[in-house]
Amino acid sequence: MNILFKIVHDLVFFAWDASLTAVNVVTPKKKKGHVVPKGHPGFGGQWPEYVAPKEGDSRCACPALNALANHGILPHDGKNIQFKEMGRAVRATYNFSSTFCYFVPHYAAEMLGKSYGKDRIDLSELDLHNGIEHDASLIREDMALEPDQSKPHVGYITELLSSASGKDKETGETILTSKDVSKFSSKRRADAREYNKEFSLDFLHKMFGSIKERIPEGWETKVRQRLGVTLAEFNITVLGVEFGISEKKYLAEKKKAEEAAQSAGEGSGITAAPVTTEEAPQTGNLVDVE
Ligand code: HEM
Repeated sequence: MNILFKIVHDLVFFAWDASLTAVNVVTPKKKKGHVVPKGHPGFGGQWPEYVAPKEGDSRCACPALNALANHGILPHDGKNIQFKEMGRAVRATYNFSSTFCYFVPHYAAEMLGKSYGKDRIDLSELDLHNGIEHDASLIREDMALEPDQSKPHVGYITELLSSASGKDKETGETILTSKDVSKFSSKRRADAREYNKEFSLDFLHKMFGSIKERIPEGWETKVRQRLGVTLAEFNITVLGVEFGISEKKYLAEKKKAEEAAQSAGEGSGITAAPVTTEEAPQTGNLVDVE
């Protein structure tokens, strides 16, 4: 892409995203039960059947994309997917904006040296290390310890979910808050830095970074913005999580707990970083992050 074209392309893109964000602010949210468009799988909470991936199917480190393939909203084998097709499926299922659904697959195409308009990919290709995939993910072991990034780590998922401290105001359901995610992320980063000798995380990857790969019957995303989550809105949420992350604070709390346990003559209440990867479960829930 020549430089001038890229500058104009980016300016138009960010102006488009800013306009959608402004429209979201001034328009009423979509009605509950009407977030997934009519005619799209999942309308009215009717999701196509979940079928676990079979040997040879392609999956990646993104739980949202894997769930789409597991329900056949994207091809079940996870192969030969157009970037636009990926964006369309994400948009309708999760209510993300046209800008987000253009930008992220477009970024992935560029990262893989492919044409956004013409080429197709297998989901596993997205796991290019330090492309979008990165160390210290919330629910995956680092690449150096688990080369198959499509395998979620049961221990991390359980730990993250059990840290959920929020309550949905309408349903009373327990939900993960941004603070919970920041706290767990602080632990993952500090632990990974300690035990993964090949640990690496740059700023961009710190910015991209909830859960299982099955959509529960009747589920609908809590994201109800009229035009879907824009890139600006997504970045504001992610920035909130990022600014709440403090490896220093986590390590200080860990040290304090260890000292307290030592003086009490017991083991620390905080367990050492898990170093093994367990089998991924075949079922689970998508979790809404506040
Ligand atoms: C539009 C296309 C998308 C692409 C190409 C994509 C790609 C990726 C990739 C490559 C990762 C791995 C990053 C890592 O190492 O942690 C990832 C992680 C993740 N993605 Fe996506 N993603 C997309 C859309 C979405 C959407 C719409 C959601 C939410 C509804 C989502 C939720 C997540 C989450 C929560 C993780 C982190 C998993 C972890 O920390 O272990 N993604 N995505």
